[in-house]
Amino acid sequence: MLTNIKDFQSYLDTYQESIDNPEKFWGAVAEAFTWNKKWDSVLEWDFTKPEVKWFQGGKLNITVNCLDRHLPERANQTAIIWEPNDPNEAVVKLTYQELFDKVCQFANVLKNNGITKGDRVCIYMPMVPELCIALLACARIGAVHSVVFAGFSSSSLADRINDASCKLVLTSDGGFRGGKTLALKAIVDEALLDCPSVEKSIVLKRTGEAVTMQPNRDLWWHDEVAKADTHCEAEIMDAEDMLFILYTSGSTGKPKGMVHTCGGYMIYTTYTFKNAFQYKEGEIYWCTADIGWITGHSYIVYGPLAAGATSMMFEGVPSYPDMGRFWQVVEKHAVNIFYTAPTAIRALEKADISYVEKYDLSSLRVLGTVGEPINEEAWHWYDDHIGKGKCPIIDTWWQTETGGFMISPIAGITPTKPTYATLPMPGIQPAVMNENGQELAGNGVEGRLCIKFPWPSMARTIYGNHERFRNTYFSAFENKYFTGDGCKKDEDGYYRITGRVDDVIIVSGHNLGTAEIENVIDEHKEVCETAVVGFPHDVKGHAVYAYVTCYHTPDNEEDLRQEIITLVAKTIGPIAKPEKIQFVSGLPKTRSGKIMRRILRKIAEKDTSNLGDTSTLLDPGVVETIIEGAL
Ligand code: PRX
Repeated sequence: MLTNIKDFQSYLDTYQESIDNPEKFWGAVAEAFTWNKKWDSVLEWDFTKPEVKWFQGGKLNITVNCLDRHLPERANQTAIIWEPNDPNEAVVKLTYQELFDKVCQFANVLKNNGITKGDRVCIYMPMVPELCIALLACARIGAVHSVVFAGFSSSSLADRINDASCKLVLTSDGGFRGGKTLALKAIVDEALLDCPSVEKSIVLKRTGEAVTMQPNRDLWWHDEVAKADTHCEAEIMDAEDMLFILYTSGSTGKPKGMVHTCGGYMIYTTYTFKNAFQYKEGEIYWCTADIGWITGHSYIVYGPLAAGATSMMFEGVPSYPDMGRFWQVVEKHAVNIFYTAPTAIRALEKADISYVEKYDLSSLRVLGTVGEPINEEAWHWYDDHIGKGKCPIIDTWWQTETGGFMISPIAGITPTKPTYATLPMPGIQPAVMNENGQELAGNGVEGRLCIKFPWPSMARTIYGNHERFRNTYFSAFENKYFTGDGCKKDEDGYYRITGRVDDVIIVSGHNLGTAEIENVIDEHKEVCETAVVGFPHDVKGHAVYAYVTCYHTPDNEEDLRQEIITLVAKTIGPIAKPEKIQFVSGLPKTRSGKIMRRILRKIAEKDTSNLGDTSTLLDPGVVETIIEGAL
């Protein structure tokens, strides 16, 4: 039973049932899928360990549910539409049959190269159909994929490969992104200098640029595919076997490899895809995210395909060849459901309205947003100019860790309010907590957002570091999953996410850990200490502000700034570049040596009227100096 929400009352009833009897509810949803063996128990959990197991004893393969089971009715239906970066290049459409054949064939390529169940495969590729095929091929044989967004630097890539001891890397010669090409293979080459676990890499030809192929290690994708058969039995997986690892930034230390498992993830992404978007047979669905992020995993690949949808992948960027590109693509493919990030909306809103008006957007039925809070102005612009006031907007709040939508309107059914993610999805039990760990019951409250009951697609651990998983998510509030977000619950019980309350900054929808950026800047030989905070930015939502102390007064501040920016771009990736770097003589610290980020955040936000209590600072005078030099 995948869909029974028809109107607002049935949403309320469904929600209530899901809370009153979660096992019965999710057991019934799971019946709609293909299992090799049914589960013995729907749920076992203990948030103190934490341990969460859904559908234990159940056996399945997610690709059977995304592909094989659709073939009798929809072999010839388009599964994936691929729109290239260059609008003049040919579109690729793969039917369910074609996608099935290609996935099986590439699964055999993996097997031929020694990959078996449980091996980790790193995928560092542009947004081409082969990327989707690669994920599914891994899942077909039970290999664990770890996709790294193709904008990360070689050292970020190496860290992720090493953290998961990947055996194989899938990449391409290069990638197109707007007017630029990215030399992906060269970045992989650099990363692999330092990755002893990697035995081979398989390289797709995309840009045709020259690359160095290392004998005995690097293989061409097309050569391998030519040798492989298109028949491949699906590996039978336990519901709780690992499906993939995906890294996300944390408030401290290195990125966390979030582990998702097969059964619960499949059920929840499919259920939420169908219900939140109210997806109807035959509709064209377009999520503009990159598969390098969780949004692409759950809502370009797994959820839509398991639901038998037509899912579009886009290789390019919203501004190329011009600011009308998204709308041109909507018209070209008669897109019905369009799902993007607030940062893209804010950028496009600034362009001349003629970029929107020259295209026919009448095919659109539902709009969605994800990744960060959407401001009121952007919400209305999206509603008025893209939805023409007739398309419900679903503001979907969720995380890499949650695997699927947590709080979101049901399209056309939940009455929306601008900037509100509205109400929880069935099965999700949010709790608003105060700083003392008490739940703020009822409506009209504001605090930290926790979830107090498991849901099927939650991450099960951090790869190789369960203790960090427990500490990060299950120690701040007893017996609850802590999201790291703040929220407001209004008089109607509607949730509005107010942003991170930890040291994660969301820049253009991408999570960045302040500690990670600080560590990189501190590596510069002239830098003594750094404190990084976020500050509001017109288009990006938030941007990075770095306060830097140096051993000596810099000879040329501008040069040093550029060097720091280059260092961050090279070590983490261009998305982490500081927007502002202020050189300061000292940082505000407490007597115990802790940096008072609250004060630095306020200065960066240009809100210095009320800095709160600064009397506990070691040297209160430093604050005045920083305010005077603020950028
Ligand atoms: O702060 C929240 C914000 O993005 C964080 C999760 O980032 P990530 O793991 O990269 O996943 C992004 C895609 C699901 C959250 O902790 N966030 C995500 N969606 C929203 C949001 N903030 C407000 N409103 C949203 N709709």
